[in-house]
Amino acid sequence: MMNWDDPLGLGNNQEAAKPQIPQTNKAPAAKPAEPKSAAPEAAEKPAVVTETTVKPAATETPAAAINVTPENTHQNAMRGVEPVRAEDKRVINGLTDVNQLAPFKYPWAWKFFLNANKNHWTPLDINMTQDVHDYNKTLTEDEKHVYQNVLSYLTTSDILAMRNIGLAVMEKMTAPELQIYQARQVYEEALHTWTYQHCIETIGLDQGEIYNRYRVIPEINQKIQVANRRLDSIMRPDIDLNDKDEMENFVLAYMFFGAVFEGCWFYNGFSPIFALQRRGLMKGTAEQLQYIMRDEVMHCSFGIRVVKQIIEENNVKLDPAKVREMWDESEAAETTYAKFLLRRPILGYSAEDHSEQFRYIANRRARQLGIDEPFPGAECTLSWLDEQSNLRKEKNFFETRVTEYQTGGALSWD
Ligand SMILES: [Fe+2]
Ligand SMILES: [Fe+2]
Repeated sequence: MMNWDDPLGLGNNQEAAKPQIPQTNKAPAAKPAEPKSAAPEAAEKPAVVTETTVKPAATETPAAAINVTPENTHQNAMRGVEPVRAEDKRVINGLTDVNQLAPFKYPWAWKFFLNANKNHWTPLDINMTQDVHDYNKTLTEDEKHVYQNVLSYLTTSDILAMRNIGLAVMEKMTAPELQIYQARQVYEEALHTWTYQHCIETIGLDQGEIYNRYRVIPEINQKIQVANRRLDSIMRPDIDLNDKDEMENFVLAYMFFGAVFEGCWFYNGFSPIFALQRRGLMKGTAEQLQYIMRDEVMHCSFGIRVVKQIIEENNVKLDPAKVREMWDESEAAETTYAKFLLRRPILGYSAEDHSEQFRYIANRRARQLGIDEPFPGAECTLSWLDEQSNLRKEKNFFETRVTEYQTGGALSWD
């Protein structure tokens, strides 16, 4: 039976790891209270109001703390003295209390959260037995090359996606209904990383070598560098989203992650494995990726929705040259990656299929964003791809789920 107080079974070692606190029978002499010096960051941070900042300290007069005057009633409401008004909420730079969920200004964000919870699985739910046989007995060397490098790229990318949303984006949101979906998204990116790890481990690939490929293979590294650069530009402690240029850069970065990184690169990134699945190969891995794809489609739609909201609320004017640069850079990186991944075509799937599908999906994302298509005339080369995130997944779920091995079934509750 699992011991929930000691889930890793560390026993006495856990005790040994406790910090040593000097014991004394004497009560410490009372020290005079030291005057509090203002923390340097306090001056730099925007005035986000929490219960502690609103509550007057014992030595302060209530009036000084909440600044009650007839002229600034609205300002006090914004500082949390009165219930939050939905119309006062903002995606970025809002002044309403971020600890108060309702009333919603963005009910669609709450619906995203509810819907995300309908796609819950773990990699342990899916039978991978046939994949081990397929990989070792059936796949050609070119197909193994594709399989390994898709996993190598994806596992690095999902860690990047998790860091982006959890460390750079979420903290800048000032409406809790947005943060709650993003918190779920952080979890989902971690779940995706577990899924790739489960596939890598089950098939018996060399973990150290697979995880390191993005650093030594230029064609994978190029995509990671593009994303890393965007992430680094918005994960700075000195970022000020009241600055017009900073705001534009943040919007471009979020647009890149939602519409390109998740909406094109991930969406398209699973398709080489789906091509194997369509021939009856690596079906367990493909089913894992179908669950991930459903999450990614939602991450993409949510990101695009938030970006549009920020643009509207802040009257952001994106430089068309910078948007064009985003598409061109993304296409160049994807094409280079496709040529490496599919150095020779596998049955029913080529590098050109992959690159053209990227352009076709990029046009769709642009339409969702309400901007010009970057690659007019691009054709759909993988007509079956959309099915993977829709009906086929439901069918596969009920047909192939290993019902005797449910999540949590290995744990004893008595
Ligand atoms: Fe992901
Ligand atoms: Fe994602």
